[in-house]
Amino acid sequence: MKSINGHTKTLGLIGYPVGHTLSPVIHNYLAEKYGQELVYVPLPVEPGKLEDALKGAAAFGFPGMNVTVPYKNDVIPLCMEVDELAAKIGSVNTLVWNGMGYKGYNTDVTGLYRAMTEDGVAIEGENVVILGAGGVSRTVAYLMADKKAKHVYLMNRTFEKAAQLAEHVNKDFRQELITPLAYEDHKMLPEGDYLAIQATSLGMSPRTEGVAIEDAEFYRKIKCGYEIIFNPAKTRFMKLVEEAGGVAYNGLKMLLYQGIDAYELWNPVKISREDIEALYEIMKETLGL
Ligand code: ATR
Repeated sequence: MKSINGHTKTLGLIGYPVGHTLSPVIHNYLAEKYGQELVYVPLPVEPGKLEDALKGAAAFGFPGMNVTVPYKNDVIPLCMEVDELAAKIGSVNTLVWNGMGYKGYNTDVTGLYRAMTEDGVAIEGENVVILGAGGVSRTVAYLMADKKAKHVYLMNRTFEKAAQLAEHVNKDFRQELITPLAYEDHKMLPEGDYLAIQATSLGMSPRTEGVAIEDAEFYRKIKCGYEIIFNPAKTRFMKLVEEAGGVAYNGLKMLLYQGIDAYELWNPVKISREDIEALYEIMKETLGL
C-alpha cells in the first residue's frame, strides 16, 4: 500500500465512466518509483458537471489530470491555454496546472509518435492508409500531417465521416494530403508499400474476429501495420499484415507512452529506459497479455 501523508498531491482521470482505465496503475507505479508524493485516482464526472469538476480540482490544488471519453473535446473551452497540435485535433487528454489555470495537451498524439519512433516506424515521406474515421483516427490523421507523411488514404465504413475528417486536416495543413476512400474501394489504392494504421474498434477483445478489410489483395500493399488496439496483443489485422509479409505492432506502446508523456508533463523527471520497460511488463501483466 502506497504511503499517503499530509503532503500528498492528487492526480486523476476525469471521464464517464472511468472504471476500465489502466492509468492509475501507470502513474501510481511511477510516483512510487520516483519517490513523489502523488496519488492518481479515478475521477468520474457525471454529464453536465465538467466545469464544476475542474473548478473543484483547481480549488483542491490538483497539479494535473487526464481526461477521457466523453470530455476530450468539451474540456477545451475550460482550459486556460491549449497546446497547438491538441487544439488543431480538438482533443485534450492531459491537463497541467500552470499557476492560474489548466493547460491542455494531447499525449495520445505525442505518445503514438514516441511509440512509433521506438518501433522504428517512419512517417515522413511515407504513403499511409488509416482505417477508421472516429476520435482515434482524427488523432492519427493529424499526426500523419504534422510529421509530413507523403500521402494518406483515409478509409471508413461511413464514407461521409472519412470525407469530413480529410477535409478538416487538408484545410489545417496543406490541400490534398488526405484522400477519403470507402473500404469496398480499396482496390483503387495505387500500388506501393504503405504504412497502415488500424484505428477502428474492430478486432478488440472479446470480438477478436473483426477486421475492416479481409482481402489479401489489400495486405499485399502494406509493408507495416500499426494497430491501435492492445487487447488482444495480436489482432486479426496484425495477422493479415504478417501473413502478407509485412511487420505489425500493437497499441500497447501508445498507451504506455501517453502515460509516460503525461507523467513527464506533471513532474520534472525523465523516466529511464529501465523503468519504461518495467512499466510495460506490469501493464502486460495487469491486462493478462
Ligand atoms: P474511437 O474514439 O475509438 O475512435 P469512435 O469515434 O466511435 O471511437 O470510432 C469508431 C471507429 O470504428 C469508426 O471509424 C467506426 O466506423 P463508422 O464511422 O463507420 O461508424 C469504426 N467501426 C466501429 N464498429 C465498426 C464496424 N462494425 N464495422 C466497421 N467499422 C466500425
